[in-house]
Amino acid sequence: MYGKLTPEIVDELKRIVGEKNVTVSKDEMEDYSHDEVAMSERIKHYPDVVVKPGSTEEVSEIVKIAHREKIPITPRGAGTGLSGGCVPIYGGIVLSLERMNRIIEIDEENFTVTAEAGVRLMEIFEAVEKKGLFFPPHPGDTSAMVGGVIVTNAGGARAVKYGVMRNFVRGIEVVLPDGEIMEIGGKLVKDCAGYSLLDLFIGSEGTLGIVTKGILKLMAPPPSSLMLIVPYNSLHDAIKSVPAILKTGVIPISLEFIEDDVIGPTEELTKKKWPVMRAKAYLMIIVDSTSEEEVMNIGMKLTEVCIENGAIDAFVIDTRSKQEELLEFRGIFYEALKENMAEILDISVPPSKIAEYVEGTKRLSEKYGISLPTYGHAGDGNVHTHIMKDEGWEEKYEALRKEIHELGISLGGTITGEHGVGLTKKGYLKEFEPKKVELMRSIKRAMDPDNIMNPGKIVDI
Ligand code: LAC
Ligand code: ZN
Repeated sequence: MYGKLTPEIVDELKRIVGEKNVTVSKDEMEDYSHDEVAMSERIKHYPDVVVKPGSTEEVSEIVKIAHREKIPITPRGAGTGLSGGCVPIYGGIVLSLERMNRIIEIDEENFTVTAEAGVRLMEIFEAVEKKGLFFPPHPGDTSAMVGGVIVTNAGGARAVKYGVMRNFVRGIEVVLPDGEIMEIGGKLVKDCAGYSLLDLFIGSEGTLGIVTKGILKLMAPPPSSLMLIVPYNSLHDAIKSVPAILKTGVIPISLEFIEDDVIGPTEELTKKKWPVMRAKAYLMIIVDSTSEEEVMNIGMKLTEVCIENGAIDAFVIDTRSKQEELLEFRGIFYEALKENMAEILDISVPPSKIAEYVEGTKRLSEKYGISLPTYGHAGDGNVHTHIMKDEGWEEKYEALRKEIHELGISLGGTITGEHGVGLTKKGYLKEFEPKKVELMRSIKRAMDPDNIMNPGKIVDI
């Protein structure tokens, strides 16, 4: 089906990017054979070669070779994905964007940052903050790279008010499956010129081309912000508070719910202490406003609503640095549970259905005798249910996983709110959305007729 990587082709690749940026050694390719998905050994696959270009022109030259020789090519950022999206399941070339790590421009008039695909999100945060600007999207792992967060349409804990990556991508530079370089979008705010190719590439998981550059929208930082940590005696009460909070008309930057089960393992891993009293569950809320006084008023209003809905207390975290620290702590939950976990799910339901969804999963937890510790982005309905490796989990895993997804779908949800389809959810996409998968396959065939661009992800053709 695919062409073979010959020593001559390896030499050609070396001529493009330099000898030290090409590796075929198994040891050195280990890091490029998996992502951060739990039990990654299940889907691990080595490439035949890892190539690290330093410029878009080099990416284009490499893709032209893959196109000519019909060799699969899998783009890779930081490898922090959670659905096997960057695993080269057919071998071939892994094209790592790690050397393309320059922030090209921060445009303070148009409120944009232009960065190469290999810039890490934490570097974007730091660079724009120095200019007094703000980039809201905050996926758990901020070592993720710009190209990766664009092509997975990453979300995270700060999406409630300002939105996910899709809302922050103004333009991209992309290398198409035949090696052609194309710029799409730009610093424009409005663009109606035909189908939105920009939106097609956002979330395409590297199956339609390689995003080499992104122009991202920035904002002025909120003048004042405040975090509330609100403990509850039950997860039910915590979740029930969410619609009540949203009904006040306040849209928080972040509205997360957390079951206490995840706090212990995170404290152990980080050697840091959860800053408030321990309870069964918590809400973590960040709100912003134009003044200190206004943000305090909002904080008080939300505290009242939470107490009315069963909260034990509410703790105010008012300094930006403490808020950042807690967001970081929050970002480590996944890592802390990972060792004993079969899978993290990221089903997303309409926000009004979160309580029903979580209660349904708890019934399934009892039915199967498998614990499902849960936290999630309550404000946008994106729930992380974790299937743990409790006794006998192997026999129950597939059936339990399926029932949880059916529950999410029956409530008007989707199988993935932020981690993407990749490899691990491809089966469910086909099962639950057969007609859409057909349309996606036609798009994939039209844009990548030889199926060399990250083959085997999202859809099979
Ligand atoms: C989080 C990642 C796992 O929310 O999506 O922490
Ligand atoms: Zn998440």
